[in-house]
Amino acid sequence: MKLRRLTNTMNLRGKRVLVRIDGNVPIVKGRVVDGPHGRIARSAVGINWLVQRGARVIVMTHLGRPNGKRVAAYSVKPIAKRLSSLLSTRVKVARSVVGVDVKKAVGAMQEGEVLMLENLRFDPREEENAASFAEALGKLGDLYVNDAFAVSHRAHASVDAIVSELPSYAGPLLADELSVLSRLGEQSKRPFVLVLGGLKMTTKIPLLHRLLPALDAVLLGGALATAFLVAQGKAVGKSVYEKESVALCAKLLKTHAGKLVLPVDVVVVRSLRRDAKRKVVSVDVVSSNDRIVDVGPKSVKAFQEILSRAKTIVWNGPLGYGEIEPFCAGTCAVAKAIGERTGKAMTVVGGGDTMPLIESLGLADKFTLLSTGGGAMLQFLSGEPLPGVEALRV
Ligand code: 3PG
Repeated sequence: MKLRRLTNTMNLRGKRVLVRIDGNVPIVKGRVVDGPHGRIARSAVGINWLVQRGARVIVMTHLGRPNGKRVAAYSVKPIAKRLSSLLSTRVKVARSVVGVDVKKAVGAMQEGEVLMLENLRFDPREEENAASFAEALGKLGDLYVNDAFAVSHRAHASVDAIVSELPSYAGPLLADELSVLSRLGEQSKRPFVLVLGGLKMTTKIPLLHRLLPALDAVLLGGALATAFLVAQGKAVGKSVYEKESVALCAKLLKTHAGKLVLPVDVVVVRSLRRDAKRKVVSVDVVSSNDRIVDVGPKSVKAFQEILSRAKTIVWNGPLGYGEIEPFCAGTCAVAKAIGERTGKAMTVVGGGDTMPLIESLGLADKFTLLSTGGGAMLQFLSGEPLPGVEALRV
């Protein structure tokens, strides 16, 4: 896939370059969870390249899902702080996303300075892919760079409509991820196993539907597995899942039962406190006050057995509340089993919640590819075009 790229010979000095990154990482106690392989760290490379060339760099990102409203907890300030520590320059934060204040702040920028706009999703027009919002953003820059592979599956104004406003280019992170994932698509060997957990079922389940014909097995955990258990008529107590996905789960269980591998046992608790009493139970006996927080040991064994024969493995999403250490045993064992296959199998791991987990387990260098994308990675592998990428093709 050939994409429009900025080149070393272009004169960018003084140019206002709008860079879309995906800085959507977990925030804990006001600080980003983003190690050296994290989304922000990897975006810093492209930003630094522009800074070194004397561009005025205006960084844009979303954080979480504030639903078109200004929500203090979703301010991009912690992301700017992390970026400042990665770049040798202070990243200022604009008061809002667009508007008079922002125009003023951009007007005052010097060569090599970096300014970050507030959370794009504070403005409802971002997710509506509104031309008026793309126009307002476009007026802030001379060029646009998409370096946000992880959100390129969303037809949102800052990745899609904006390309009609400015000369647009693919950033280095986006281009690298696409080049490795394209090779994976072409060279994947069977058995091809997908390990899928986490939340965001309304994004993932339709993609799973598209991916299933190319897969040999799908190992399910997290809230995603819970929706499938509900579709099988099982009780899941107070466990989290998206009700609207259950019908599609039921359909997939009918058409692809042989490929979908659900947990047979789970770890349950009565509260999400770290010190809550944990119990391993069969998926047939989850009681009304239980919450599923991890896959159980029998499930892990079955997953390890399937992974030990796989030649291609793609993993997205923790298999429970992996960010809470006492609830991470199952996810951790599966992560290790995938890492151990690297070399004998192509192993690709991605997603906003999966990456911090892998870093905390010290496994970040154990896989063939760490993708910043979760839904974007799955959508790309399923062959469905990504709106943010299509517009950048040569
Ligand atoms: C992600 O984490 O997958 C991306 O940042 C996209 O976020 P979204 O699912 O809220 O659109």
